[in-house]
Amino acid sequence: TNPIQIAIDGPAAAGKSTIAKIVAEQLGYIYIDTGAMYRAITLKAINEGINMASNEEAGELLLRTQIDLEPSDNGQLVFMDGEEVTEAIRTQQVTKAVSEMSAHALVRERMVELQRQLAESRGVVMDGRDIGTDVLPNAALKVFMSATVEERAQRRFADNQVRGINTPLAELQEEIAARDKMDSEREVSPLKQAEDAIYIDTTDLTIQEAAQKILTLAQERM
Ligand code: C5P
Repeated sequence: TNPIQIAIDGPAAAGKSTIAKIVAEQLGYIYIDTGAMYRAITLKAINEGINMASNEEAGELLLRTQIDLEPSDNGQLVFMDGEEVTEAIRTQQVTKAVSEMSAHALVRERMVELQRQLAESRGVVMDGRDIGTDVLPNAALKVFMSATVEERAQRRFADNQVRGINTPLAELQEEIAARDKMDSEREVSPLKQAEDAIYIDTTDLTIQEAAQKILTLAQERM
């Protein structure tokens, strides 16, 4: 079988990364979480007090920032200027700021270039917002994964409980909805389903069921 590219897009907290990781592992492909790259540059912007509304400041920051992704046993390690930031990019502070940072054309241009390099000539499962529409337009399989905003907030809430984070459910739902709105309405490669993407509603699916659906679709395309 030929290795293929699998693009998984969808709104926030739809389970994309959890499911993408399982699919990649089953197929022996690498998994690339593109959101982590936007989160890493956002973390640096916060640390340096950069004005994230400014195109120039964002672009300048990018020029002196090195972002690396490294496949690991349970997914992917993220490095910013050589420092491991895999966990540090998951805070609520970064989450709330990332959509503003990722809307800049200069930021996207550079990230997309890096993402294409990472995916070059190998089997890959890549998740994000614009993978099927922009980053990998020729991916053999494109999936657009969603669930109701209530279900997504509920899942994030349950995840958080395990990790000892106590953000109220209503606040999570608000943050997720606000992020989806910004990501869908931005000018440069907004979140939207590619014409040739297959829609999977995971509201009533388990993680395993959703992963199995994608694996079946992938096998048909190898
Ligand atoms: O996937 P995750 O929720 O970690 O993504 C964080 C943010 O990064 C998204 O809300 C979006 O603003 C941005 N993003 C993007 N394009 C991608 C992946 C993520 O704009 N391909």
